[in-house]
Amino acid sequence: MSKMIPDLEEAFRKLAPARDRLLKELEEEARHERIPIVGPVVGELLYVLARAVDAGVVLELGTATGYSGIYLGRACKEKRGRLVTLEKDKAMAKRAMASFKRAGLDGFIEVIAGDALGELEKMRGPFDMVFMDIDKEEYLPALSHCHRLLRRGGLLVADNVGFRGADDFNRALSESSQWRAVHLLSFLPFHSPEKDGLCLALRM
Ligand SMILES: C[S@@+](CC[C@H](N)C(=O)[O-])C[C@H]1O[C@@H](n2cnc3c(N)ncnc32)[C@H](O)[C@@H]1O
Repeated sequence: MSKMIPDLEEAFRKLAPARDRLLKELEEEARHERIPIVGPVVGELLYVLARAVDAGVVLELGTATGYSGIYLGRACKEKRGRLVTLEKDKAMAKRAMASFKRAGLDGFIEVIAGDALGELEKMRGPFDMVFMDIDKEEYLPALSHCHRLLRRGGLLVADNVGFRGADDFNRALSESSQWRAVHLLSFLPFHSPEKDGLCLALRM
């Protein structure tokens, strides 16, 4: 008899962390409008990672409606820090600002409406953590900025690295001596898509 829990994926779906009404509303909107948000498991993971590295200042690339930003913003609030989040779609950026206000996080989050690659050029660090969730073809061009903006020992988390568009980013990161990185092939309940890759990289 196998030592594994039967129907492992369903069993793990049932372990998805609890979330409040606002997050559930954003999940419902995302489902309805097909907005690819991280979902409760990766959302909670972002919160746990931000707290574990004691992150006070966090940068997010790709805000959408503010779902992942709420998890990161809540971690920053614990440190009286701040989240800076970049979104190229102005209407989305506006929706995210409304979500952050509803979450009571507007004092801890700055939403910048603009293209991440252009905005990153103008930014200064140091950040403790970066969460990357923009168009996957832009991961590689954004990587050198992440290195410049992260403090030594800072954490880069990249979502959706199972997408073809992230292939060059994955290889560049694993070959670079500027990072220590792992690429996890993952089952991520309620994430879009549920089977994907997640990358965690330490800035050397
Ligand atoms: C996958 S969604 C982000 C989901 C969000 N992180 C969450 O889980 O709640 C990607 C978002 O990044 C934005 N985006 C894509 N490429 C971008 C870029 N180059 N600069 C800024 N935003 C970008 C898209 O408009 C979209 O809203």
